Amino acid sequence: MIFEDFFIKGYAKGVYDNESALSFFDSFVFQDAELVDRRPPPGSEKALNDIAIFLKETYINQIFDDVTINQVSMWQSVDGPSGDWHNDRYYKKIDENTWEGHRFNSNILIYLDKNSKEIGNSIEFKNQNEEFIEYPSRGDFVWINQSQGFQHRATHKQGSRRVLSFEYYIPALPKGGLVHHGLDY
Ligand SMILES: [Fe+2]
Repeated sequence: MIFEDFFIKGYAKGVYDNESALSFFDSFVFQDAELVDRRPPPGSEKALNDIAIFLKETYINQIFDDVTINQVSMWQSVDGPSGDWHNDRYYKKIDENTWEGHRFNSNILIYLDKNSKEIGNSIEFKNQNEEFIEYPSRGDFVWINQSQGFQHRATHKQGSRRVLSFEYYIPALPKGGLVHHGLDY
């Protein structure tokens, strides 16, 4: 993993090459991303949490000591708002003990299906200067920096586009205004 990319491009790429762990999820019905309720399906939560811990300890903890695991989930396709450039971080500190929104400013998405230019399924990122397009294959993942200044958007044209989702809160990431799908609070 090129850790510098996380701070410069707003995301870093990796490979989760545990096929037996991935294939466990193939038997599940993935809820459509349009559904507001992104709780994982019954029976999937422990396996998702195990991967969330593995990714945190293997990658995120190489840079950040203090990391909290937030919601884990899985879905297919792309919800409408995520097709436009946006940033997902969702928290605002009111005081020491009070937060508005759930604490989340970084996430990892593991892809279960092949994306490609030909298929038309992708994820794009941009910083202040450049745009980047990615076509993850099965087992590829992106670690997304949801700090202010970075945005991303997802495209689903055809076929299966399933992802495993792991949200984290990293106190050391730069604070900024609360922004959720383009809305400033
Ligand atoms: Fe997003």
